[in-house]
Amino acid sequence: MDDRLASVTPSTEALEREIEKYRFGAATRRRIIGGAAALLGIGAGTAVASAGAATPSMTAGPFYPSGGDIPAHTDPDLVRKAPGDPPATGQLIYLNGRVLSLAGEAIAGARVEIWQADAKGRYHHSRDRRDVPRDDRFQGAGVLNTSAGGAFQFRTIKPAPYPLGGGSVRTPHIHMKVEAPGHDTLITQLFFEGEALNGADVLLSRIPRTQHSAIVIAYRSSDDVEAGSRSGSIDIVLG
Ligand SMILES: [Fe+2]
Repeated sequence: MDDRLASVTPSTEALEREIEKYRFGAATRRRIIGGAAALLGIGAGTAVASAGAATPSMTAGPFYPSGGDIPAHTDPDLVRKAPGDPPATGQLIYLNGRVLSLAGEAIAGARVEIWQADAKGRYHHSRDRRDVPRDDRFQGAGVLNTSAGGAFQFRTIKPAPYPLGGGSVRTPHIHMKVEAPGHDTLITQLFFEGEALNGADVLLSRIPRTQHSAIVIAYRSSDDVEAGSRSGSIDIVLG
């Protein structure tokens, strides 16, 4: 690993503190509601929390876009900043999902925000000062409100891994924040099924194995949607 990178990236200890800071207590607020799985209408290949359980929360990390780090464009197409702009580098992916209550009811109008590294593993954030090239075509973050059926779709690219201090590497992941009136705000991270680095990821490994299916998404080829794209889906459950 490049020592220059280690010296300017957040330490594992710093991330630990972030975990505590941003943990919204999903585990303690979890309620069991019988029959929720049936109400959810879970489709094959959709990542979803256990019946009656909220999606596990995770740290927002140091690169949450706020203040001067909010991109000029925040539409749900992160692949290009504005229509007609050249596309970002990377594997094109569609991140599809629904936002649901613990009872499995769709939550319309929920605010869903994602942010992630680009195909070089670089965040478009002032706190990411690593000496690696940045793909300036990539938007870095996006936000939308769910449809009447609670659905959302982002068009983005698969983020690359990036180094942490101490020699560890973050496996590819997409950060997500979901807010809806009357529900707990959720901050979490979404992972890619089958990724070699998943098993060693310092933050994913803190989530009990039984909950991984709620945040690890299987992406499949979706040339019918757009040539060369891969698509995955997730049901986000708010407490
Ligand atoms: Fe991250």
